[in-house]
Amino acid sequence: MGTVNTSDTVDWDGLRAAAREAVGKAYAPYSDFKVGAAAYATDGRLLTGANIENAAYGVTLCAECSLVSALVMSGGGRLASFTCVNVLGETIMPCGRCRQLLWEHGGPGLLVDTPQGVLPMTEVLPQAFGPGNLDHVREATS
Ligand code: THU
Repeated sequence: MGTVNTSDTVDWDGLRAAAREAVGKAYAPYSDFKVGAAAYATDGRLLTGANIENAAYGVTLCAECSLVSALVMSGGGRLASFTCVNVLGETIMPCGRCRQLLWEHGGPGLLVDTPQGVLPMTEVLPQAFGPGNLDHVREATS
């Protein structure tokens, strides 16, 4: 089992400030909806990301995509706490696809800042499909 995260030990204000700074790096000429994301890894590393759009709209990378890339490319590990904001600095919910990304790299213990307060991933993506589903079948058929 991974580390048990506790909401009150996380520097949420620092994390939100990092996400607001990351919004400034967004490339969103098509939607004009800039998103900034920030997370602490379980080892304390601060990761940030911003959305990067494309003329072929479906190729757009959400802010969470660039954040997860930053996690992996800076040594990997697990996400412990996460927030994302719009250009007004307001907390927004990760889109459905990005909830799946966050599940993969943070799992059930990842704490997510939401407009309704800090929630564990188990509430942000209930009954998630994840690596355990693959392991289950692989073990049963090997
Ligand atoms: N977007 C994100 O970056 N993350 C989300 O979780 C929600 C949506 C971006 C994608 C697109 O560039 C813009 O917001 C409008 O959908």
